[in-house]
Amino acid sequence: MSEKLVLVTGACGEIGQALVQGLAKRGGYRIVTTDLFPAAESIQPLVAEHLQGDMVFKVKQFYAYDFDIIFHLAASLSSKAEIATEEAHRINVEGTMQLLMLAAYKSEQRGQAVKFLFPSSIAAYGFANREEKGRAGRVKEDDWNTPHTMYGCNKLYCEKLGMYYSQFCGQRHLDPQPPVMLDFHAIRFPGLVSAFTVPSGGTSDYGPEMLHHAAQGLPYACFVREDTKISFMAMPDAIKSIFMLMDAPREKLTRPVYNIDAFSLTAGGFRKRALAAFPSAQITFEPNPRRQGIVDSWPEDVDDSAARKDWGWKPDYDEERFFEEYFLPEIRKRYKRVSARTNE
Ligand code: SER
Repeated sequence: MSEKLVLVTGACGEIGQALVQGLAKRGGYRIVTTDLFPAAESIQPLVAEHLQGDMVFKVKQFYAYDFDIIFHLAASLSSKAEIATEEAHRINVEGTMQLLMLAAYKSEQRGQAVKFLFPSSIAAYGFANREEKGRAGRVKEDDWNTPHTMYGCNKLYCEKLGMYYSQFCGQRHLDPQPPVMLDFHAIRFPGLVSAFTVPSGGTSDYGPEMLHHAAQGLPYACFVREDTKISFMAMPDAIKSIFMLMDAPREKLTRPVYNIDAFSLTAGGFRKRALAAFPSAQITFEPNPRRQGIVDSWPEDVDDSAARKDWGWKPDYDEERFFEEYFLPEIRKRYKRVSARTNE
């Protein structure tokens, strides 16, 4: 069987690196990547081609390729996007729109749908205050779609753009012979935690930052209150979910956008776990009102029953397994290797 040609944008980011490694492990893909940065060491040997530069200006070049699958990960995350809103809109919305147009054009031209997988986020939700958040509990995809952040607005709108280009573009779905349209699906991710990379510019970053600092013996001042609760997920589960959605037969998918869930944990819960594993860790709480406000507008938990029903979603890592079987063993190896290297 011939290789599938895939494009991964934002390939040097957290999800990007893990996804490229996952694709290479599966085999059967010719992987083209793009990012503002040169290909990261962890993915360089795995990719056929890496196009470095601003994705928004690179899209023209992508018309020369016949991508079967596009994983559009490039984004400015929530905290960063609040500081540079216009830039975030350009990257998050214009970049997505350009790629959707490319995928729509290619789907029609080839007579075969290009798959377009888009990571959305719990930032697409928004609660007016903590009380409302507490009352809402597990939220369904179509509830509370009132984001407070530029990033959340961008994600929600891009979900809509994806639906538009895959179902209604030009109202040509009403033609006697409608064109082949792209196959767009999005996953709303909770806060992701990797043992290998640290996120930057996000607001759920306090979870991974706290753990990576503790593992290295560095003090950490957490920028949200101890009782702050949102859902989190191990990076391997995030990659698994992308592959599951990608492999699911299109006719089984009843929605364009799916929640997925693994475990909900407070910032205090992270601290407790970090202290149990690294007893000398110094973790304090120094809430930043703006970043606190962002996390208070995000759900404590999401209802992922549609993903479970339509494509069999089930995470491998609950809280216990996340710490004991993924994060702690991997992080201990990682920082032992780093300190061995620095001692050489
Ligand atoms: N992890 C993202 C952020 O904090 C939310 O999807 O911006």
